[in-house]
Amino acid sequence: MKKKLFNFLLLGLMLSLGTTACSNKPQGKIEPITVATPVRPAGQQDVLNLVTPKMDTVRVGFIGLGMRGPGAVSRFTHIPGVKINALCDLYPERVEKAQNILKKAELPEAAAYSGSEDAWKQLCERDDIDLVYIATDWVHHVPMMLYAMEHGKHVACEVPAAMNMEDIWAVVNMAEKTRLHCMMLENCVYDFFELTTLNMAQHGVFGDLVHVEGAYIHCLEPYWDQYEGDWRMKYNKAHRGDVYATHGFGPACQLLDIHRGDKLNYLVAMDSDPISIPNFIKNDSIRRSKGEDPTVINGEHTLTLIRTEKGKTIHIQHNVASPRPYSRMYQVTGTKGFANKYPMQGYALEASQLDSETSSNYENLSAHSYVPKEVKDALMEKYKHPIHRELEETAKKVGGHGGMDFIMDYRLIYCLRNGLPLDMDVYDLAEWCCLAPLTALSIENNSAPVAVPDFTRGGWNKTHGFRHAFAQ
Ligand SMILES: NC(=O)c1ccc[n+]([C@@H]2O[C@H](COP(=O)([O-])OP(=O)(O)OC[C@H]3O[C@@H](n4cnc5c(N)ncnc54)[C@H](O)[C@@H]3O)[C@@H](O)[C@H]2O)c1
Repeated sequence: MKKKLFNFLLLGLMLSLGTTACSNKPQGKIEPITVATPVRPAGQQDVLNLVTPKMDTVRVGFIGLGMRGPGAVSRFTHIPGVKINALCDLYPERVEKAQNILKKAELPEAAAYSGSEDAWKQLCERDDIDLVYIATDWVHHVPMMLYAMEHGKHVACEVPAAMNMEDIWAVVNMAEKTRLHCMMLENCVYDFFELTTLNMAQHGVFGDLVHVEGAYIHCLEPYWDQYEGDWRMKYNKAHRGDVYATHGFGPACQLLDIHRGDKLNYLVAMDSDPISIPNFIKNDSIRRSKGEDPTVINGEHTLTLIRTEKGKTIHIQHNVASPRPYSRMYQVTGTKGFANKYPMQGYALEASQLDSETSSNYENLSAHSYVPKEVKDALMEKYKHPIHRELEETAKKVGGHGGMDFIMDYRLIYCLRNGLPLDMDVYDLAEWCCLAPLTALSIENNSAPVAVPDFTRGGWNKTHGFRHAFAQ
């Protein structure tokens, strides 16, 4: 009996040792979590490189005239070939303020819509509008985009245009079904440093690109109370993940030709616990007097790593809470050089990448340190993007984040008028927006890898390289 018990215990010990030893071994390859890719409805095709008939005049209607919208109305008064036919906001006084922008520019008054939650529908139903420009809060974007396209209008929508996978696919499907343009208004891809650096990358200055970084690091404490109905705080309180990725991710995806020869394969994300925003809520006298719950779901600092089909990596960060200088990071690493925008703009290149036009003593330079200011200036002049050559002066005068907002709006209208593919298509919108739901999924699963769907549903390798279109 004693011997039997001893043997039993020995077996148990061996088994437990065996299990412990086994648990240190990998249990096989971990496959990324996948989310559904809906089948493309029969008869529907992709809208890659979509062109629509040229338009002499683009007739525009604006929805959302809060902090962001009026600036867009003002910029459009400087763009040739535009007619502003309608303005809409919940509040009549905001519409009136935008009418004053038109008046000041000596333009006719636009039709006004306000006073009800769905007055914007009447704007979309008008037959004298070609483009609906949306600058409302994140929750309203998708119903507005869908309704506008259903009513035959091209759509331009502020960032992020869509916040969950269901909405993203609904927008992709509607754009494919209606074959209308649906562009997200990502302005940072037109920033002077970003666009010049993109041009350098497209000319091979950095060799083969291997890694790109981007971010939205901007302490929003002075602004939290200014959003209509507190929509931005409410969203951050309720959602984990990188909810505002597009300013850093858009430029990264353009550099890596995403869905133009490469595609996003999978991501992993991690966040730190929220501290600053809960403290802000607790210390804000108005919020405190209303008894607001200080619980915040969104992490204070969210990190995302993405790997592409062609073996490139992207690192994206989000932090709108901690007291830090503004940064979109923007770093480009290639086999022959490096670019960095924040906190210090600079290039570091192998000597072979410089020539007499950009450096008189380039033999002495190496990628171990940044090129001197005069070499940087010469590089930026040599590789100034044709878009900047044409628009820099006007853009700086009109303004909007130093001019990039004007360039974005100008390019949208230029491409529509000339019947060209837009600089950003609905698949860019989908890829840049999907970080919000997919990073949340990764974080909620201990930073598990999550597969990024191919929103083109098989077309990611049809176009060879991202390029801006120009009229011949
Ligand atoms: N690209 C950038 O650099 C940049 C900068 C700031 C904001 N944004 C984006 O712009 C958008 C707007 O941000 P904001 O700061 O102007 O917010 P905001 O709260 O100041 O303005 C939103 C406006 O939408 C209006 N609105 C809401 N529901 C409406 C409805 N049903 N019908 C008509 N109007 C309605 C509100 O009345 C408000 O005037 C957001 O998507 C934001 O992320 C982008």
